[in-house]
Amino acid sequence: MSTSTLPGTPSAPAAGNDLTGFTLTHDLIRRAVPELGRRLANAAASGALDEAAAARLGTWWSMFTTILDGHHTSEDSHVWPVVLAAEPTLAPVARALEEQHTSLDGHLAGIEEGLRLLGRQEGRERAEGEAEPADRETVLSRLRARIADFDALMYEHLRLEEQTMVPVLRDRVTGEAYAAMLGSLATGHDPADFVPTMPLLLEQAPPRAREFMLGNMPAALRTRYEREFEPAYRELLGSLPAA
Ligand SMILES: [Fe+2]
Ligand SMILES: [Fe+2]
Repeated sequence: MSTSTLPGTPSAPAAGNDLTGFTLTHDLIRRAVPELGRRLANAAASGALDEAAAARLGTWWSMFTTILDGHHTSEDSHVWPVVLAAEPTLAPVARALEEQHTSLDGHLAGIEEGLRLLGRQEGRERAEGEAEPADRETVLSRLRARIADFDALMYEHLRLEEQTMVPVLRDRVTGEAYAAMLGSLATGHDPADFVPTMPLLLEQAPPRAREFMLGNMPAALRTRYEREFEPAYRELLGSLPAA
């Protein structure tokens, strides 16, 4: 089994290391950030953005941020060091990417806070010293602006990785070094931490990529994935405002 951030490619590569998990994660990032913006906009336009709908969107978004956090952490701790061992001149790029991960975290916190405010019950008592809450229109417009900014930054971030680090990871890191990196990543991850989020990662995965990610999963966990995690995700997805 591969963790959600492990490398592989959906279409079988002619040569090089298989970057399926890495590619699926980048595809998910490009898809999910604008999707959140569209779901919020559609819900607001139809008058359906009540606290319950915002809370469900918050649940969906927290699955995404779990995957994204794992991806960024894996890149900084495992993937870039392997790339740098093969191509040391990329060290300044690795530093820039690591700094971008940190600044992107600030935007993630802002988005999470916006969703939390939209999902908060109106009329509840405020804690002593707590500021007057902004009205929902203001919260929503700030949130949508934040999502648009985050989307633009993520696009640039992914493009930089794909133009610099990914070709080395795929073509110049040896198969042995790559396998050792995957083993090290797998050792540091408890499947219980990321398997429940995998239905989001695999929502639009081609069959080969899906099987690559699930194929080596222990039978009992795969059964739970198919009978519990994936149906629960489909139910959540069906309850969200339209995309
Ligand atoms: Fe990254
Ligand atoms: Fe990445």
